[in-house]
Amino acid sequence: MKELKSAPNLKHTELKSWVSEMIALCQPDAVYWCDGSEQEYNELCNQLVEKGTFIRLNEAKRPNSYACFSDPSDVARVEDRTYICSKREEDAGPTNNWMAPKDMKANLNPLLKGSMKGRTMYIIPFCMGPLNSPISKLGIEITDSEYVVVNMKIMTRMGSAVIDALGENEEYVKSLHTLGAPLKAGEEDVKWPCNPTVKYIVHYPEERSIVSYGSGYGGNALLGKKCFALRIASAMARDENWLAEHMLILGLEDPKGKKDYIAAAFPSACGKTNLAMIIPPDTFPGYKVTTVGDDIAWIKPGKDGRLYAINPEAGYFGVAPGTNYKTNPNAMETIKANSIFTNVGITPDGDVWWEGMSKEAPEGVINWKGKEHDPNSGNPVAHPNARFTTPASQCPSIDAEWENPEGVPLSAFVFGGRRSTTLPLVVQSYNWNYGVYAAATMGSEMTAAAFGQIGKVRRDPFAMLPFIGYHMADYFMHWLEFGRKLKNPPRIFSVNWFRKDEEDNFIWPGFGENMRVLKWIVDRVNGKTAAVESPIGWMPRYEDMDFSGIDFSREEFDKIMTIDTEEWKKELMDHQNMFEEMYDKTPKDMFYMRELLVSGLWRTSKKWKANG
Ligand code: OXD
Ligand code: MN
Repeated sequence: MKELKSAPNLKHTELKSWVSEMIALCQPDAVYWCDGSEQEYNELCNQLVEKGTFIRLNEAKRPNSYACFSDPSDVARVEDRTYICSKREEDAGPTNNWMAPKDMKANLNPLLKGSMKGRTMYIIPFCMGPLNSPISKLGIEITDSEYVVVNMKIMTRMGSAVIDALGENEEYVKSLHTLGAPLKAGEEDVKWPCNPTVKYIVHYPEERSIVSYGSGYGGNALLGKKCFALRIASAMARDENWLAEHMLILGLEDPKGKKDYIAAAFPSACGKTNLAMIIPPDTFPGYKVTTVGDDIAWIKPGKDGRLYAINPEAGYFGVAPGTNYKTNPNAMETIKANSIFTNVGITPDGDVWWEGMSKEAPEGVINWKGKEHDPNSGNPVAHPNARFTTPASQCPSIDAEWENPEGVPLSAFVFGGRRSTTLPLVVQSYNWNYGVYAAATMGSEMTAAAFGQIGKVRRDPFAMLPFIGYHMADYFMHWLEFGRKLKNPPRIFSVNWFRKDEEDNFIWPGFGENMRVLKWIVDRVNGKTAAVESPIGWMPRYEDMDFSGIDFSREEFDKIMTIDTEEWKKELMDHQNMFEEMYDKTPKDMFYMRELLVSGLWRTSKKWKANG
């Protein structure tokens, strides 16, 4: 076993012995401690180019950027292979796969044994959050994938400074990742090694450790993101009285320079990156939206009784298809250079392309399977889950405070689902507890058959269904208890951009107009606009929102805001079903709030409208 690069400043004895143990188990040919330098990044990218994994993009069009195609079997997170291995099954809860830690270890150990043969083991010291922040946490990812190293360089603060921060005995999250594709002596590697049949994404919340086997893709392999910053961190947050959430963070500044920060949770693929980087329409002169984060928020109470949030990530791992200069100009500017593209199309002049970037696919474009695209085939050029990895610092709308170690103060939480009926465009919860209720019951109509019946509502509490590292009902309780201790909590809102009319058309004129909802939200927080009490919370009247410059009539407003009593009775029945699935642990508050909502609805007219 060769040591290609060491970590001369390493003083952490326990870490040294964990690494030795992993070397003995995984049996790599060589070991390399990452220092996080530009030079190291460039060398590894060159190595990936030589291997054929990376294609260097046209230096004039997309400087210092690369594209690659994954194995067709390795294109997304694998929720059915994701486990929360707490000691007790009841601590993982009914929404997670569970196996006892000792059984899982007995199962994984034979797979891990020799799993890195023929490969180099990279040891990545990384920090989630700015290195000098009291909210940040340290981690070590061990991996046998160069692709993972270079992506982690963009997505986290990584390298020698973390070794210093680890000192002799600081805590860190142990994250072991292997492609599960050992090479025999002399065997030539493939461009995207992975294990096509066996995959495991395993979390041990009590041990604060992660083992990922068999996949080289995104959230399965970049362990700082979903595995650490959400699943493990949510368990840490419960124990240490903070919140680890699947939320974007944005700043909204009014023409007088008053700024409010909003943290917003939406299920995957509901446009979080677009909302985080939204540009206010021309009819909002002087307003500015700034970006702190697009996916994850770590939130702690400050001394002043407010909540403060950091983005634990340093980059964006965004969905490429659909991103263009209309939907998200800031993202398009961010990815102009120094980016990695996975499973997008490559144009004959060495640039990238995906569905939605322009109307027609460029002639001769190579699709994500590495073949020339046939426009008559009906197949897309880019995989629908194709991604860009890009440094947050390049985002034109990046917030000046995005790396403030103390975080930014939150004025509001926003929870959004994807619902064609029932849920109004925007509603403010009566108080913290009702906000928790609204977040716990949020859901999305299923669009992909993979998840079950198309059109049926999949409850996705707090957009955390695939990401909670413990029992979902304990998480509801954590939110309720956390709120009780806050002197100055953010206000809580629910939004739904996706409501449709009888002809199946979206009622809301489009993503670009979401600024109007954000403005009502901060105006409410600042006591600058009115609202009326509906059976489910506080709602704006037509005149309380700013519709200047668009053609959005009172009738359309009514359609998107109406509370249909019959729909809501069914909705509340469905909430009951979800709570009953975890009856033993669901906080009683949830049942009582449901009862109050039911009795409120019985006392209202069939169709409740804000304007009467
Ligand atoms: C993501 C997700 O990749 O939520 O951010 O799936
Ligand atoms: Mn996400």
